[in-house]
Amino acid sequence: MTPGPRGRGGHGLDPERRARHRHDQSVFHRLLERHDAIQRQREVLDNGIRTLTTSADPEVVALLHDHVPAMHQRLEEGFALRRWDPLYVEIFAHRQQLRMAIELLEDGVRVEETSDDLWVVRLIQAHGTAVDAFVAHGHEAAGQPSPMPGEGKD
Ligand code: HEM
Repeated sequence: MTPGPRGRGGHGLDPERRARHRHDQSVFHRLLERHDAIQRQREVLDNGIRTLTTSADPEVVALLHDHVPAMHQRLEEGFALRRWDPLYVEIFAHRQQLRMAIELLEDGVRVEETSDDLWVVRLIQAHGTAVDAFVAHGHEAAGQPSPMPGEGKD
């Protein structure tokens, strides 16, 4: 495969993208380290999910405020990550059918992710479950591929 302008998970040729990828990685690694300081509620909707992810620690709130809009932007650009994880590959492949509304709160972030496509709804719901596992178990959960729809507890 020829590395295109999208880069390869940040390892492509574009230095700006490489720097962004390094930054995004440092943010989600720190979120995984601080997973005990994060609370999360997830509501399943017919067409997606609504989540509330919060922390009493301002450092963690700042990380959430960085991470979630950055991931939204990467979805819009098709600047994929976790390319070894089939769930993420599938989400990025269907990014044009996915809507994400983000509300930054004083203590966290509220997200509504929806789609008109049933398969994409199931991907969104499976991803919501994957984030729950990151919050519950930190790096231990992030080192394993995320369950695809139907495989896990989504
Ligand atoms: C404790 C760790 C983490 C927390 C608290 C967290 C939090 C979030 C939240 C709140 C969202 C919005 C969607 C939702 O609420 O379900 C989100 C989306 C996303 N996160 Fe994370 N995340 C974490 C770790 C990671 C890791 C390790 C990666 C990748 C290596 C990642 C990549 C993404 C991507 C690509 C999205 C957008 C895709 C989508 O929402 O469908 N996150 N994350």
